[in-house]
Amino acid sequence: MSMLRGAGGGRAMRSFLQDSSVKGHKLAPGTARRILSFAVPYKGFLAIFLLLVAIDAAIGAATPLLFRDIIDRGIARGRTDVVVALSLGVAALALASAGATLAQRWFSARIGEGLVLDLRTAVFDHVQSMPVAFFSRTQTGALIQRLNGDVLGAQQAFTSTLSNVVSNLLSVVLVLGAMFVMSWQITLLALALLPLFVLPARLMAGRLRAATAEGYRLNADMAQTMTERFNVAGATLAKIFGRSQDSSGEFAGKAARVRDIGVTTAMYAGIFRVSLTLVAALAVALVYGVGGVFAVGGALGIGTVVALTAYLTRLYGPLTALSNLQVDVMTTLVSFERVLEVLDLPPMVANLPGARTLPKDVRPSVEFDHVRFHYPAASEVSLASLESTAILSTETGVDVVGDVSFRVEPGQMVALVGPSGAGKSTLASLVSRLYDVTDGAVLVGDRDVREVTQESLRAVIGVVTQDSHMYHDTIRANLLMARPGATDPELLDALDAAQIGEFVAALPDGLDTVVGDRGYRLSGGERQRLSIARLLLKAPSIVILDEATAHLDSESEAAVQRALATALEGRTSLVIAHRLSTVRNADTILVLDQGQLVERGTHEELVDAGGLYSELYRTQFEPQAEVLPS
Ligand SMILES: Nc1ncnc2c1ncn2[C@@H]1O[C@H](COP(=O)(O)OP(=O)(O)O)[C@@H](O)[C@H]1O
Ligand SMILES: [Mg+2]
Repeated sequence: MSMLRGAGGGRAMRSFLQDSSVKGHKLAPGTARRILSFAVPYKGFLAIFLLLVAIDAAIGAATPLLFRDIIDRGIARGRTDVVVALSLGVAALALASAGATLAQRWFSARIGEGLVLDLRTAVFDHVQSMPVAFFSRTQTGALIQRLNGDVLGAQQAFTSTLSNVVSNLLSVVLVLGAMFVMSWQITLLALALLPLFVLPARLMAGRLRAATAEGYRLNADMAQTMTERFNVAGATLAKIFGRSQDSSGEFAGKAARVRDIGVTTAMYAGIFRVSLTLVAALAVALVYGVGGVFAVGGALGIGTVVALTAYLTRLYGPLTALSNLQVDVMTTLVSFERVLEVLDLPPMVANLPGARTLPKDVRPSVEFDHVRFHYPAASEVSLASLESTAILSTETGVDVVGDVSFRVEPGQMVALVGPSGAGKSTLASLVSRLYDVTDGAVLVGDRDVREVTQESLRAVIGVVTQDSHMYHDTIRANLLMARPGATDPELLDALDAAQIGEFVAALPDGLDTVVGDRGYRLSGGERQRLSIARLLLKAPSIVILDEATAHLDSESEAAVQRALATALEGRTSLVIAHRLSTVRNADTILVLDQGQLVERGTHEELVDAGGLYSELYRTQFEPQAEVLPS
């Protein structure tokens, strides 16, 4: 789209490119007041900025008057001194205008960028406080668009839109006033030509808008192909299936459509601008013609004719822009509203007012008291505009957890087993309050998790899942997340305890090795052990393992098991296990099926009972015993 941007920089042009569909949009009540509240910190700057805009418009309107006087009072009467003095006046006004424009730029940038900063940090902080459910639904791209595009749109409200309104209105009033005083006949003539200006603009604007929108869509489509093909997983997939050629063809096709729409857009933009220039030139011809005839008859001074034509160029631009004012203003307000919409989305899981801190040394028990849970409906956690749907479902799912009660005493290890989809991971996520229970209560240290702050709750709980995430950063940075002030020897101790010390020591960059996006350069076992090291550094009193050793080969598995044994020592733990070795060591085994606790007891008791556990044991656990004696 750079071609378009380069070609059609004009103010009128930009306003025609905006979407006229916003015209009918109704703003939510109170939006205007809230938008103004964002301007409050900048009210001093805004006042100076608007004053400068006004000065600039006044200078623009005054200059043609000097032209007139140079000709009529200077040149026509042979007065060199008047010509020199007035020309110096024109130069002085030009300098003043340049100064005012520069100062305007500074104030507009300072206000605009400050506002962008305020809005961005507000949205970022708010989004960060949203529950996991929000992120599991919303499209990252749509969210980033709010932080980038819409925030910039909102910024325009206070910089270009506001200054356009003030500057154009003032210019039109001053210019029309001056023109009327000089010659009301010619002024009326000039105004009669206005529709010739607005009509071609309107006609072309519709097509240009459609072509531009299509261009954006095609560009986004092309970008989507790139992001999908140029990440490790996508690239690997294409290679394995030998589809690189197809990918190239598909990409070339999309890129070609971008070229075609680029040419169309450039042509529409060209016609648009040429027709505006043409009408302006015709208007100048008309004013010279009619004004010239008046001048010959002595009804007008020559200088007045020159000044009138000079005013023409300052009249049509602002008038065209003002004719599109409504769309301009609404576009920026809608952007603002889209930002406010995100800020207004209440986080489902939030600290209660007066929530207390869970002490770090609390007796680490975990209790489920008649817990029921179903996943929240989409409408409760997200915004339709952040997903690809128009309306969000308000339907809540079926109970994933139904009336579950159990207690893990401090220092105990409880294993949770059950078929896939039984609700084990869901149950585990309730302990660290990633979701709130629908009914009943989860208690940690005999306190309802909803009554303590989320930060203090999560400080005492450590979680390792089957696919631990690593930020694209050094091993050191990924470990320091767990304990910010940790020294290198402490980090190395944790790595040793997690059975990955030797591996890290052997890396050329050691702790400074960058682990790729999603820790891609690490094997599954290495990443698991690294996340266990992270857990050890955090030293939480409660540990939750969710199939932490799934997907590992038996060699990694053995190392991870040793690492986990260290991690669990002396801690309260809830372990979702699919390994016999882990299950056997548990103080109690809970068997979950379709969200219900169907059995509980020790390994021997449950095998003897001959229920679901004994079946799982036969099909899942026992075969492993031969491969991996525990
Ligand atoms: N984020 C979610 N939103 C809606 N339903 C979910 C979500 N996560 C899991 N479920 C559903 O909850 C049920 C239990 O899933 P889960 O707790 O992951 O089972 P398990 O860990 O025992 O395999 C499944 O039916 C699953 O489809
Ligand atoms: Mg699971």
